[in-house]
Amino acid sequence: MHITPEASDRPDYAMLAKQVASILEGERDLVANASQFSAFVYDTIADLNWAGFYLARPNKAGTGEELLVGPFQGKVACARIPFGRGVCGAAASKRETILVPDVHAFPGHIACDSASNAEIVIPLVQNGKLVGVFDIDSPTLERFTLEDQAGLEAMVAAFLDATDCI
Ligand code: SME
Repeated sequence: MHITPEASDRPDYAMLAKQVASILEGERDLVANASQFSAFVYDTIADLNWAGFYLARPNKAGTGEELLVGPFQGKVACARIPFGRGVCGAAASKRETILVPDVHAFPGHIACDSASNAEIVIPLVQNGKLVGVFDIDSPTLERFTLEDQAGLEAMVAAFLDATDCI
């Protein structure tokens, strides 16, 4: 049994990354681990209104891939996002974390939940393949710092180490 720490806006990210490894130990299934990881992030990081996965999947036309919503915590969200669209699509195309202090100032931002004001999207790359992104939204402007970025990237790295995404 795992005890989830209180939500914090100055979390001990090194400890949280270790807890991710411990929670996911012994299970490599993508849906199971992505569900557990979303719940853990949503519970341990303060002041969030959405945290979850968009996974690279074939588009409906069968002409390539796009992002399809996966396990998450928060309100119902847009199901499909083409690469290059919105913050998620930009992070996927660039394979870079995108930290957005004010989503209303981000060209092409896709508003799924009107409560969101700040967002951070971390690409998921496994064995050289872009497998999706992990998206986190907050109702608070400028919610995420570079320290949060580094810490959340460490948590995502622990998730990727523990999970077969392909
Ligand atoms: N805001 C995202 C869309 C996903 S939701 O925030 C859950 C974007 O611009 O890509």
